[in-house]
Amino acid sequence: MIKQIAVIGAGQMGRGIAQVAAMNDYKVFMYDISAEGLEFGQSFIKKQLEKGVSKGKWEQSFVDSTLANLSATSEMNDLKDCDLFIEAATENKEIKFKIFKQLDEIAKPEAILASNTSSISITEIAAATSRPEKVAGMHFMNPVPVMKLVETITGLETSVETINAVEEAATKMGKTVVRADDVAGFAVNRILMPMINEAFYTLYEGVAEAKGIDDAMKLGCNQPMGPLELADFIGLDTCLAIMEVLHDGLGDTKYRPCPLLKKYVTAGRFGRKVGKGVYEY
Ligand code: CAA
Repeated sequence: MIKQIAVIGAGQMGRGIAQVAAMNDYKVFMYDISAEGLEFGQSFIKKQLEKGVSKGKWEQSFVDSTLANLSATSEMNDLKDCDLFIEAATENKEIKFKIFKQLDEIAKPEAILASNTSSISITEIAAATSRPEKVAGMHFMNPVPVMKLVETITGLETSVETINAVEEAATKMGKTVVRADDVAGFAVNRILMPMINEAFYTLYEGVAEAKGIDDAMKLGCNQPMGPLELADFIGLDTCLAIMEVLHDGLGDTKYRPCPLLKKYVTAGRFGRKVGKGVYEY
């Protein structure tokens, strides 16, 4: 029975996951190595919850009980009694392998270790631990409190009990689950990233201007954000990292990252989070 959840990383995804878990009666420990990151994550969650009161979505008492469910720590040992760990660190293999090795050491034997990776192989992450049957993918979408989907991923060794427990937790957090196999990009990014990459090619080849491309997809296909705007929202560095995983993992030249996307990332135009990407904010 999952009662206590540890969320590793207080960034864009981690703080959203921690918020949603705490709102749904889980005791949540949000962990980050950066004290500054933790503080920002906590104040962001508090602001989001308070916004809900001013919009009439919930009462102040709900904000208070949600915040009482949430603790923040930079000490990994504080997490040792958690039943489920959801790792939401940077999308980098070496960082994730290192974190999973550490979690494997401190977590109780029955604890489940899940990753919010958007594309890295769950089988590979699981192999960094001594409990591959207790490792699964739990891929939330951004912004986590708004998006209804959690894509769950079964690694080669993931047990039925583990994937069922992870899906039960996602459902309790109010999300709808779609299960995907452990193949590069899983389901969402296998489809979404080639579309975003193609939008960059469309811009690169001068087919239309950035705003034109976004308007075409918003007004012509009813997408809430155009693909370039969405790339800025996700982070161009993350988009490039995922395209590289698709290219390496599936080996087809159709997944070649667009040179323009690479150029933006090289220039440090990572998107909204740094104030400039395809657009300036
Ligand atoms: N955190 C929490 N809530 C947020 C938020 C955030 N960062 N941004 C917006 N919201 C909430 C608002 O509070 C508002 O809530 P209410 O309706 O309850 O008042 C609601 O979302 C709508 O917000 P706005 O009216 O301000 O703005 P909008 O109508 O333009 O919608 C959007 C904003 C929800 C982000 C919408 O543009 C959208 O759906 N965009 C597409 C997002 C998307 O595709 N996400 C998936 C990315 S892929 C991914 O995450 C996975 C990966 O591996 C890359």
